[in-house]
Amino acid sequence: MKSLLAFAFLALATAAPTGSQSEPQFKNAIGKNPGVIGLGGGIEGTSVDKTGKLYTVNNIGLYALDKENSTLWTNGTGGMSVVGLSSSRFTRTLGTLIGDPSGHKVLNVQDPKKPTLFLDASQMLQPNDMTISLDEKKIYFSGMNWTANVGEVWYYNVESKKLEKVPWTGDRANGIELSHDDAHLYVTSARHNTTTFQTLFSSVIRYDINKANGMPENPQTVLDYRKLRNDAGYFPKDAGTNMYANLSTDATAYAAAVKDRKNPQDNEMDFDPDGMRMDSKGTLFATLNAWKTVVMWDTTKASTTAKFMELETVYWPTNLELGGPEGKTVTVVGKCKGNANTCVDSFEHSTPGRAFKNLQGDGGNTGKDTTDDCS
Ligand SMILES: *[C@@H]1O[C@H](CO)[C@@H](O)[C@H](O)[C@H]1NC(C)=O
Ligand SMILES: *[C@@H]1O[C@H](CO)[C@@H](O)[C@H](O)[C@H]1NC(C)=O
Ligand SMILES: *[C@@H]1O[C@H](CO)[C@@H](O)[C@H](O)[C@H]1NC(C)=O
Ligand SMILES: *[C@@H]1O[C@H](CO)[C@@H](O)[C@H](O)[C@H]1NC(C)=O
Ligand SMILES: *[C@@H]1O[C@H](CO)[C@@H](O)[C@H](O)[C@H]1NC(C)=O
Repeated sequence: MKSLLAFAFLALATAAPTGSQSEPQFKNAIGKNPGVIGLGGGIEGTSVDKTGKLYTVNNIGLYALDKENSTLWTNGTGGMSVVGLSSSRFTRTLGTLIGDPSGHKVLNVQDPKKPTLFLDASQMLQPNDMTISLDEKKIYFSGMNWTANVGEVWYYNVESKKLEKVPWTGDRANGIELSHDDAHLYVTSARHNTTTFQTLFSSVIRYDINKANGMPENPQTVLDYRKLRNDAGYFPKDAGTNMYANLSTDATAYAAAVKDRKNPQDNEMDFDPDGMRMDSKGTLFATLNAWKTVVMWDTTKASTTAKFMELETVYWPTNLELGGPEGKTVTVVGKCKGNANTCVDSFEHSTPGRAFKNLQGDGGNTGKDTTDDCS
């Protein structure tokens, strides 16, 4: 908690000299990821391939980040069209999946010239994002109706092709990620005031995965973002915009509200939890959209130990993934200051990502672990 308080103090100071460099920090990573340039406000749905190369989607296509204008697939190619993409995942056995929330479908664009319909999701509200089990036999989807403050979670069994709605206790469901060992499923939940758009409550809900049938069970709220922020006294420099209420843009008002917490409204947050990705040992990274922040939580410990990490150039982080040659570069995409253009920040983590590591091996299907930590 000490370091978090120190961090909050720095964030509120006008000049922020960083004395201790023990905490990793996100830095502008546009040099290595020029592929985000020109993708527009719809940038999200980051993914990684076996080599550690990173990708992202916007409304109309899937792009590699390492080069500008590096399109893998774009709307209409191969006779397949989308309403607007929001997710992507590379797999060993299922192809390259991209999700079309308003089109209610998932496409496989592994052969970009001959895309195929992977899943008809017309029963779903979206799908918003997806996460895939290590053996690639189970896929979990989040989805929501933003206006109505409602969400849902679905479980797709790849072998039986059965699509099942998962009992959901939260509000809008957005970020979704399985744990490093497939034992748990983490899903974000958020609801806002439909008049002011202020976020009223946001959290992470954790399920246990039933080993026998893959069904997520026993949903529990394991992280309350408001409590985490208040305990840390964290306020990012210069975050948010007038889309959200004034506390998010006014550090003085925020400091006053934190000082006097009698009115619960003073402590509302003005960010929206978005994409989440996990590393291969259980550390979860979660983007806080509109708040220029990623939360880093080692889920093998209590969520009170989670830390806020301020981004450098990404003010509206939508999603992230761990990539690079060793799969350890946490790379966050989103919109820049002023809700404009596209930015990307990264930092070097100590552990490869769950997705990257799983792409190296066989998901435990032969019982051999071919996936060393590359350290
Ligand atoms: C990328 O495409 C845009 C729009 O067509 C163009 O203006 C820009 O020069 C291209 N950049 C590169 C590096 O090719
Ligand atoms: C994709 O192409 C189809 C067919 O031309 C079009 O109806 C649709 O609006 C396009 N989607 C986007 C996101 O531009
Ligand atoms: C989302 O909810 C709003 C408000 O209840 C409703 O008007 C709208 O039709 C819903 N949208 C979809 C796609 O279901
Ligand atoms: C939403 O905000 C309005 C305007 O400030 C307020 O009157 C209302 O009580 C709020 N609703 C909720 C559910 O907080
Ligand atoms: C935000 O501040 C502006 C200017 O001070 C004010 O006009 C507006 O009503 C405030 N909005 C909210 C939601 O408090």
